[in-house]
Amino acid sequence: MTDLAGRAAALDATDPLVHFRDQFIGSDDPEIIAYLDGNSLGRPLRATRDRISGFVDEVWARRLIRAWDEGWMDDPIRIGNDIGRVALGAAPGQTVVGDSTSVMLYKWIRAGLARQPGRDEIIADVGNFPTDRFVLEGIAAERGLRLRWLEADRSGGVTVEQVAQVIGSHTALIVLSDVAYRSGYLADVPAVTTLAHDHGALVLWDVCHSVGVIPRRLDEWRVDLAVGCTYKYLNGGPGSPAFGYVRAELQDRLRQPIQGWMGSAEPFAMADHYTPSHGIRGFLSGTPSILGMLAMQDMLALIEQAGLEVIRAKSVALTEFALEVSDQLLEPLDVQIGSPRDAARRGSHVTLEHPNFGITVGQLWERGVIPDFRPPDGLRIGLSPLSTSFSEVYRGLAIVREMLWQLAS
Ligand SMILES: Cc1ncc(COP(=O)(O)O)c(C=O)c1O
Repeated sequence: MTDLAGRAAALDATDPLVHFRDQFIGSDDPEIIAYLDGNSLGRPLRATRDRISGFVDEVWARRLIRAWDEGWMDDPIRIGNDIGRVALGAAPGQTVVGDSTSVMLYKWIRAGLARQPGRDEIIADVGNFPTDRFVLEGIAAERGLRLRWLEADRSGGVTVEQVAQVIGSHTALIVLSDVAYRSGYLADVPAVTTLAHDHGALVLWDVCHSVGVIPRRLDEWRVDLAVGCTYKYLNGGPGSPAFGYVRAELQDRLRQPIQGWMGSAEPFAMADHYTPSHGIRGFLSGTPSILGMLAMQDMLALIEQAGLEVIRAKSVALTEFALEVSDQLLEPLDVQIGSPRDAARRGSHVTLEHPNFGITVGQLWERGVIPDFRPPDGLRIGLSPLSTSFSEVYRGLAIVREMLWQLAS
């Protein structure tokens, strides 16, 4: 039997990122024993508290409407460029912060489909996050298209071989998540993207669960389209707006369907008819959420300072350690691993499965251990490398064991 508490302490002692943890508000809160849900809602940074109050007092209150000319109009593109540089491997001018992920999925999917006349099928997967599937169902019905649903292994995800079996000259678009929200499976983005292009299809990746925690190389992989949220590993706060990426060569050939004034060529010309702006700005619709874009800027700066490769290395070490703790403490209580064992195919969360997790999760939250639950039996342990410590993982899973034990006895 390994001394897991001792191992956690040793891992923390040699963790090159350990000092970043103090920069998050609440990381020293004795009532929060383990925050294991940074993959749903990242913790706030101390810098963000200052930024938000400074914004209200100095910018909103004093610059008032003038601030639109003094920077706000450019914020969606400026911050989009930052996300592109820090997290996506995207050159400037291809990433923009806009609406919610759901709305951006709608706009991006419709824009992609409009470029594919004569092709009537979209490849998607039944294990994707509900909003992706629901938006696709709506668009397929609206446009008279067929959805080709792939069924992936629940503790894995969609493979390039599965896509190869169904792709053809009828395929307009492939819509997948690069990290599966339930299992954490990390898809082979370059291989699927190349396969799509070999068949004349476009591909849209939902990168919600990878952005800020796994280096992405969207330009190098020639990804066509991507969307992702900013409240997970980018710590943008509840409801912070999503971003979208459109590969440069495609931008002036795609038309998104929500023709609002902010995406028009001259928003303040009050024109009679819509003419889209050139480039990525044409993918905007309405007034951008300036408040919603504040917090993510602090986390982007921190990620850049720490280095995404170093963050990924800690993410792998954290998920490995969570599996080790689970194997030793939870497997004897019949907990199964619902995530890939191969770290190269795993994102920054692991899912543990047990029929009693549905009733345990509320009690865990009350005790200050905060993972989340994904039906029918999955306890999702999200590990955010800049704010999660190894000791926190150990403490949290030790309490999971205690609760399962109590229920069983
Ligand atoms: C893969 C994925 N896509 C989309 C969303 C959410 O979309 P929205 O930001 O519109 O709520 C989530 C939320 O957890 C998600 O995990």
